[in-house]
Amino acid sequence: MADTTAPAAPKEKKPYVPPPPPEGKEVLVSVRGVDKIFTKGGETVYALHNINLDIYRNEYVSIMGPSGSGKSTLFNMVGALDKPSAGEVSVGGVSLPSLGSSQLSYFRCKHIGYVFQSYNLIPWLTAMGNVMLPMTFLGRDDEFAEKRAKEVLEIVGLGHRLNHLPGECSGGQQQRIAVARALANDPAIILADEPTANLDQKTGQEIIELLSELCKTQGVTVITATHDFKMLKASDRIVWIKGGNVDKVEDVANLNISVGGVDESHYEG
Ligand SMILES: Nc1ncnc2c1ncn2[C@@H]1O[C@H](COP(=O)(O)OP(=O)(O)O)[C@@H](O)[C@H]1O
Ligand SMILES: [Mg+2]
Repeated sequence: MADTTAPAAPKEKKPYVPPPPPEGKEVLVSVRGVDKIFTKGGETVYALHNINLDIYRNEYVSIMGPSGSGKSTLFNMVGALDKPSAGEVSVGGVSLPSLGSSQLSYFRCKHIGYVFQSYNLIPWLTAMGNVMLPMTFLGRDDEFAEKRAKEVLEIVGLGHRLNHLPGECSGGQQQRIAVARALANDPAIILADEPTANLDQKTGQEIIELLSELCKTQGVTVITATHDFKMLKASDRIVWIKGGNVDKVEDVANLNISVGGVDESHYEG
């Protein structure tokens, strides 16, 4: 429900309106008229304003924008980690704001896998233990969870690190464990918030390639929030956000990616 005490929305250019999906594409995530308002030190901040967006099943979408532009806030809306102040988010036709808290927990666990900048692994659990956790939450028995954990750790290239603790693994390996954990319940979506931000160039590139591979081989939809230009080439589409608005959405096939990066006008304040 809209917050009636919210301040007048900032005057912005015309909001982006998604076109009808191209032939053969199915809308998996639909965002309509989403606002997110935070109050910070008595000041009101529109972290997102009037966001409309469609994400198609089995595509790789990067939400790109400078720090503070609203990427994580949008990530949290799409991933059902936070509720919008106004507007509608639906995933696979299910309206997220309409779900109660236990339905929401189940929905998150079953349909969405999360990857974060800082891996968010449980330090006292092995790679296997970390990957089994979301399956245990879903009520899977140990035998099933062990078999699947092994399988997904092999998919991410860590078949030889099953019983290592996170602290015994490199940053890249820890992020691979996090990706395996995200994949454990065979979700429709993997949401990754700045997954390469703590990694060096080469390791970051490897994680991007892994996510791209999973999109192709596991039928998963990958949504990343990032300001890492390395993510551009792996993506099918880029959602440029600026000051809490969708600036534009581009097919990567039409993007002017040069050696030095992209048209940096997207990053001008
Ligand atoms: N929990 C919060 N409380 C107050 N302000 C917030 C909160 N989360 C985000 N913001 C503000 O919303 C804006 C967008 O933040 P965020 O989505 O984290 O941007 P990004 O991920 O692109 O760096 C920023 O101005 C930020 O300070
Ligand atoms: Mg962020």
